[in-house]
Amino acid sequence: MQRGVTLWFTGLSGAGKTTVCLEVARLLALRGVKAELLDGDEMRGQLTAGLGFSKEDRRKNTATAAYIARLLTRNGIIVLASFVSPYKSIRESARESIGSFAEVYVCCPLEECARRDVKGLYKKAFSGEIGQFTGVSDPFEPPEAPELVLHTDRETVDQCAARVVEFLETRGYIG
Ligand SMILES: Nc1ncnc2c1ncn2[C@@H]1O[C@H](COP(=O)(O)OP(=O)(O)OP(=O)(O)O)[C@@H](O)[C@H]1O
Ligand SMILES: [Mg+2]
Repeated sequence: MQRGVTLWFTGLSGAGKTTVCLEVARLLALRGVKAELLDGDEMRGQLTAGLGFSKEDRRKNTATAAYIARLLTRNGIIVLASFVSPYKSIRESARESIGSFAEVYVCCPLEECARRDVKGLYKKAFSGEIGQFTGVSDPFEPPEAPELVLHTDRETVDQCAARVVEFLETRGYIG
């Protein structure tokens, strides 16, 4: 049994959105649950290539993701969407358009994300080589009432992923 929902992972770059989503997808596949990943990096590399990081371009990028997520969700898929999506109003629009939606706040202090610096972008952001970088030179508005909060500086990837799967079970999205 599965019921469609979009889990919208939001958080700073390097917080662990993609890492946790990949592990959740693996766990769901093992159970025969149909899930789909929508990832910011992948979308920006293909579908929304050409968009930048102004508020308007971030809105367009997220709105495109939300549109796809809505189609998948209404067809019973568990959608794992990972987008920095720093603006509260833009996440709320995604929630409204998708309907069956839960916000997962992938919470990690900026210092830890910068220490990880998975893509080497924080170094560039702090030096000013790149601008409009969320958490450094662009805002991040933390969710006020997320359905789930993951603290990736204190919980392992496995613990975080297990909590997401448990959330899906508890809310009756998978059985
Ligand atoms: N509990 C955890 N959950 C997720 N990632 C973790 C955790 N602990 C450590 N990490 C590490 O943190 C990094 C997270 O990188 P990841 O690319 O998943 O971040 P992201 O949020 O998708 O960033 P971006 O927005 O740039 O795509 C990885 O190197 C991962 O191994
Ligand atoms: Mg990512």
